[in-house]
Amino acid sequence: MASMEPLLEVRGLRVCFGPADRPARAVDGVSFRVDAGETVALVGESGCGKSVTALSLARLVPEPPGWYAGGEIRFVGTDLMRLRPAGLRGVRGREIAYVFQEPADALNPLFTIGAQVMEAIRLHRPDEEAQSIAASLLEKVGLPAPEALMRAYPHQLSGGMQQRAMIAMALACRPRLLVADEPTTALDVTIQAEIMDLLQNLQAELGMAILLITHNLGIVARIAQRVYVMYAGRIVESGPVRNVLDHPAHPYTRALLDAVPRLTGSRARVSGIAGSVPDPADWPAGCRFHPRCPRAQALCRERLPAVEEAGPGRSVACHFWRDA
Ligand SMILES: Nc1ncnc2c1ncn2[C@@H]1O[C@H](COP(=O)(O)OP(=O)(O)OP(=O)(O)O)[C@@H](O)[C@H]1O
Ligand SMILES: [Mg+2]
Repeated sequence: MASMEPLLEVRGLRVCFGPADRPARAVDGVSFRVDAGETVALVGESGCGKSVTALSLARLVPEPPGWYAGGEIRFVGTDLMRLRPAGLRGVRGREIAYVFQEPADALNPLFTIGAQVMEAIRLHRPDEEAQSIAASLLEKVGLPAPEALMRAYPHQLSGGMQQRAMIAMALACRPRLLVADEPTTALDVTIQAEIMDLLQNLQAELGMAILLITHNLGIVARIAQRVYVMYAGRIVESGPVRNVLDHPAHPYTRALLDAVPRLTGSRARVSGIAGSVPDPADWPAGCRFHPRCPRAQALCRERLPAVEEAGPGRSVACHFWRDA
């Protein structure tokens, strides 16, 4: 509903790394929103700033070398950029929870799965309930024999099971927003699909919103309602998923779609996009995509395109999107 306040509204977020006189402007004026209960995808090539954007939401970018150069992160009406550390601790993991690509980054090898899930639960529930809640969470994420699993150590689980355990931990506090950063990239294709189905089912059951970061446009088409396309620290296009994927307005989105592996006869063909993402300490002048853009003209080398409305719920930052 248009009148509803978004769950999360990020405006003009800027995150830099390194020295102030030559900053790497990894996230450079990013604005987006996530409504309660929806799945929003953030896509773009490696190095475009997706993870830095995601980590910034709960102010998890390591400072230094990172530093916040501006912007607002409104979460249920509060600007997280202005919260003190104690306030932020109340948000991290409880209101905004994360699932990362590598379960190994989230699971401690020295503690049992049960101990780790229970620790997450104890943040907000009485001690005596933790054990039974942990077991039911493990069951909810589709892990067999949860009681036995509670006593297992991470290395005794397969990659897919570790990923499920990490999701159980992320869900322990019933977050309103789950940020899933390439949650299945390290897994094989069958397990990927299972984990994605799991996330979708949990979302329907728990009513949380998901911000999904992925390279996989097939997954985006399947589970997200809206998508933001990020290039070189900025959002270049956004809108309803079907709409954007069927009729991309930005040449970068089109290039991403063209780069999706296709089956031609028996051979898989991956074209990729010619060239590479520039260095955040040295973004090109004008439109940052112009050195790689087949449609670039003089204006593109000179002026950064503004974000324009391009139909219902759609936006695009390209001087020539109308000519597409
Ligand atoms: N801790 C850090 N110190 C210095 N630079 C960093 C740090 N973290 C990220 N960066 C830089 O910020 C830019 C954006 O990185 P980010 O990890 O957000 O990319 P990404 O879009 O998530 O890429 P990928 O798809 O590979 O995960 C990169 O140039 C990266 O080198
Ligand atoms: Mg990343």
